[in-house]
Amino acid sequence: MYCFFNKASFTSHSPKIKMEHTRIKELLNATEFGKEVVVKGWVRTFRNNQFIAINDGSSINNIQAVVDFENTPEDILKRITTGAAVRVKGQLIESLGKGQKVEVKATEVSIIGDSDPEKYPLQPKKHSLEFLREIAHLRFRTGTFNAVFKVRNALAFAVHKFFQENDFVYMHTPIITGSDAEGAGEMFQVTTLNLSNPPRKENGEIDFKEDFFGKSTNLTVSGQLEGELGAMAFGNIYTFGPTFRAENSNTTRHLAEFWMIEPEMAFYELEDNMDLAEALLKYVIKYALETCPEEIEFLKSRLLEEEKSKPAAERSELNLVEKLNFVLENNFERVTYTDAVEILKRSKPNQKKQFKYLIDDWGADLQSEHERYLVEKHFKKPVILTDYPREIKSFYMKQNEPDAQGRNTVRAMDILFPGIGEMVGGSQREENLDRLLARMAEVGIPAEEMEWFLDTRRFGSVPHSGFGVGFERLVLFTTGMTNIRDVIPFPRTPKNAEF
Ligand code: 4AD
Ligand code: MG
Repeated sequence: MYCFFNKASFTSHSPKIKMEHTRIKELLNATEFGKEVVVKGWVRTFRNNQFIAINDGSSINNIQAVVDFENTPEDILKRITTGAAVRVKGQLIESLGKGQKVEVKATEVSIIGDSDPEKYPLQPKKHSLEFLREIAHLRFRTGTFNAVFKVRNALAFAVHKFFQENDFVYMHTPIITGSDAEGAGEMFQVTTLNLSNPPRKENGEIDFKEDFFGKSTNLTVSGQLEGELGAMAFGNIYTFGPTFRAENSNTTRHLAEFWMIEPEMAFYELEDNMDLAEALLKYVIKYALETCPEEIEFLKSRLLEEEKSKPAAERSELNLVEKLNFVLENNFERVTYTDAVEILKRSKPNQKKQFKYLIDDWGADLQSEHERYLVEKHFKKPVILTDYPREIKSFYMKQNEPDAQGRNTVRAMDILFPGIGEMVGGSQREENLDRLLARMAEVGIPAEEMEWFLDTRRFGSVPHSGFGVGFERLVLFTTGMTNIRDVIPFPRTPKNAEF
């Protein structure tokens, strides 16, 4: 189905920007021994007054520069400290030491920016992820975070590549809105009113007519509603931008500010929606595996190292690379909520009352312990759960006919991943105006504030579908990191908005 059809092509390459220095990644693969080169980067270590390990961010690996210390001024040698920025000119030579193929025999060393070794927080030793989170402004300079953010970059690029190749239009939806797209009310308010003395109406309520936009506004929780407007004109669109949730969830899977990818497609039903989501996830993970082999290899070793401290039973059966390949090679399991509840009811942890929330009735929302059981213990692969109870899902989802027992479900789909839980949430949308209005009335969403959205159902309404991928959860899975705070540069979580 996803054929990457040909667009009018653009074959010109971007010009190479000429600089005095060469990036370390390029030098590490070079074979022009004897050539004079210039390296600019930051000192990772300086050993024996002779060997500088320099990193410029282009690679997780450093290049070694060998200093002729007898002919280098003492005051320069003293300033080659961890964290300092240096310029080294010298000859590229084959390295005799192990662990590297090439090194630079320095003829000139100069300091571009000093770094006081007494004060520099990143010492050349292993730091904990918790400590690095406190100095998130410097953690990019470590191997782990270099690898994580390179993979994040590759995944973001792959998302655009996938959609552009499939003729989707990238649409920018607003960050500030007056609506609550999920109807869950977990929003950050945006206001310019003086909070210590806001203007009030006669009944004492705050008068938002006096506010910047003349009404109450918030940061968006999702670009979906505006995305639906785009889909009704372009056919296929996607958004990829920041979204905000004021949910007080202090977990390793939740952020207050996270990036979401939201495609929305006219004429797609739920099956098509699932096919698209599965194709997208496989494509971007494959892209990361193929374009970041060194980074993923590094992260695989990091994870193995981290897991050594865990009891054997808690260690993963597959290493990171095997886990990623496993996702690529297997079809996601598609199961209805109703069938999943039956599986959970009969499961050992439910029978033995090991779940914190026991499953005995149809209709309850699934907790992460249930999702994890289904994915990690029962199916042992990504699972797409469909047709959830209407009462636990958003107002815009397409309603199924009631089942034999009169239970109401909607055409929802959540994709659950091992170790992550919910990676994707989506649905086919209710395209029938009357049914949508009735549902909005039931859950108390005022139609008069949503006229613009309802117009899609008034003028040329068509079956359509879409979903949202939590980008950080995707990065978390692909990097094998365990805390979502470590896959976004500057995490925003309850009581934390540093940097
Ligand atoms: O399931 P959600 O709430 O769905 C929506 O917002 C729909 N409007 C999407 C759509 O159909 N266009 O969120 C989608 C995904 C979740 O599956 C999860 O991966 C991620 O966004 N997500 C979060 N990620 C990090 N921190 C949070 N607080 C998140 N909340 C949701
Ligand atoms: Mg959801």
